[in-house]
Amino acid sequence: MNGPNHVAIIMDGNGRWAQERGLKRSEGHKEGAKTLEKLAIHAKELGIKVLSVFAFSTDNFKRSKEEVDYLMNLCITYFNEKLSKVIDNNVKIIFSGRKENLREDVLEAMKNVTEKTKNNTACILNICFNYGGQEEIVDATKKVFKDLKEGKLKEEDLNKENFYQYMYQNLPPIDFLIRTGKEHRLSGFMLYQATYAELYFVDTYFPDFLEKNLDEALEYYSTRDRRFGSVKTD
Ligand code: FPP
Repeated sequence: MNGPNHVAIIMDGNGRWAQERGLKRSEGHKEGAKTLEKLAIHAKELGIKVLSVFAFSTDNFKRSKEEVDYLMNLCITYFNEKLSKVIDNNVKIIFSGRKENLREDVLEAMKNVTEKTKNNTACILNICFNYGGQEEIVDATKKVFKDLKEGKLKEEDLNKENFYQYMYQNLPPIDFLIRTGKEHRLSGFMLYQATYAELYFVDTYFPDFLEKNLDEALEYYSTRDRRFGSVKTD
């Protein structure tokens, strides 16, 4: 059985991880960022081609200003410095999401890390930041309308395969989607790309979801029979 090409993770449970230890929620995010660094390197070692992660949703702006500011600052630090090990591992970092509402210094850090890693080839780390799956489909539809209006696309030529070109990033479909932290929902994460993804929900809070946990999850994936709507003929 082949391993998954595109793995996605909804990194949930940072806040509860911290609160259960009597720490501030921000400590959970800090620990979660360290976990992400380890998983990105491990994913590359396993031959996974794309790792997409949900780092900040458009709805996360509803959190306290203190928490939002903390997450933005943490990301700047990570994009500017802490992801260097990931970068040294030939991982290309890209982002999916809306640029609106993001601070200039955050956008700058995102731009720098994208530029720095643009020629890396071993694995893509797609960080979904200020991201919503419904928003992505709406934004893609607007791009489709624009191309139709400008004569760059004919209505009859649009199909479910080339629609991917209109998403924030033109990535392959998700094969395996993991959600940590006890909840069993998608929260709008990469809805179009996750159409036929195998789903894996695990109670472990994200900061504790380390390399061996990813191995365990992939073990589960290897037992799945992916039929894509067809039936098995043997
Ligand atoms: C969900 O946990 C997690 C987030 C909203 C943020 C995830 C961010 C990181 C792992 C750090 C990202 C770092 C980089 C470099 C991209 P939660 O806060 O919803 O936890 P809870 O459900 O227990 O409250």
